[in-house]
Amino acid sequence: MNIDQDDLLELACRLAIRAGDAAQTRREELGIGLVVGDTLVVETKSTSIDLVTEVDRVAEATIVGGLADARPDDGVLGEEGASVAGTSRVRWIIDPIDGTTNLVYGIPSYSVSIAAEVDGAVIVGAVYDPAGEVLFAAAAGRGATRNGEPVACTSPRATDPTAHLAQALVATGFGFSANRRRGQAEVLVTLLPQIRDIRRFGSAALDLCSVACGRVDGYYEKGLNYWDYAAGRLIASEAGAVLGDLRGGPGDSTFLLAAAPHVFEPLRSALRSADADERP
Ligand code: IPD
Repeated sequence: MNIDQDDLLELACRLAIRAGDAAQTRREELGIGLVVGDTLVVETKSTSIDLVTEVDRVAEATIVGGLADARPDDGVLGEEGASVAGTSRVRWIIDPIDGTTNLVYGIPSYSVSIAAEVDGAVIVGAVYDPAGEVLFAAAAGRGATRNGEPVACTSPRATDPTAHLAQALVATGFGFSANRRRGQAEVLVTLLPQIRDIRRFGSAALDLCSVACGRVDGYYEKGLNYWDYAAGRLIASEAGAVLGDLRGGPGDSTFLLAAAPHVFEPLRSALRSADADERP
């Protein structure tokens, strides 16, 4: 089967919207606020606070079914267990609902994230926010968009470079184990007095898109899964953000920092001083 970047991007966007709209419809049926038990099947995964719902599973099945129809030879890796080896050079990386805790509580900050790799490199990404009806998308080498319009990360507001960190609005996220959270809280004790403020929105994919469209100046997190960031990392990068870990690597599940170019280095340095990547 042919590998055309436009075709892969169109499919990623179409399936992200299809799965996200189905999830949003189900969420609206359930009403406002926390839903558990009879109204929504909620189970736990890695720890007692790591949630998965029927909505996550239906969304993943929707995407996997759509991929099987359109591109039956491709591989698939999905958060809720989808795993297809594939025989083509293409593999799809899916987070059917990124921000499941927000979905369960009715907080309108969750997303569907779909990326396509060719020979192991992500070349397209789509992140759909169904509550806000916003689609972020990117194709490698061709920029990033928000509902079809080009986006770019923030530019310096201060002429004095020493103010860049102090004026940075920074998003982050926390893992699900108590031990990791203790370390992440200790990093915040050091970082928070040095920056404008912290945001914890609850969807890593949307956090990366927030860097892409200038809604925050930077984002970092330790211990993400590949499906959390595969699409968002490309979208942030194509919007002009700098991506990496704290030691010169490209940034991955161990540690991922995404920031506007003027913020990346001072934020990297502050996080390194706080040992942000060396804690559990
Ligand atoms: C989580 C969200 C959250 C991040 C966690 C992720 P999930 O993904 O992206 O913002 O802090 O590390 O696990 O579990 O909702 O798909």
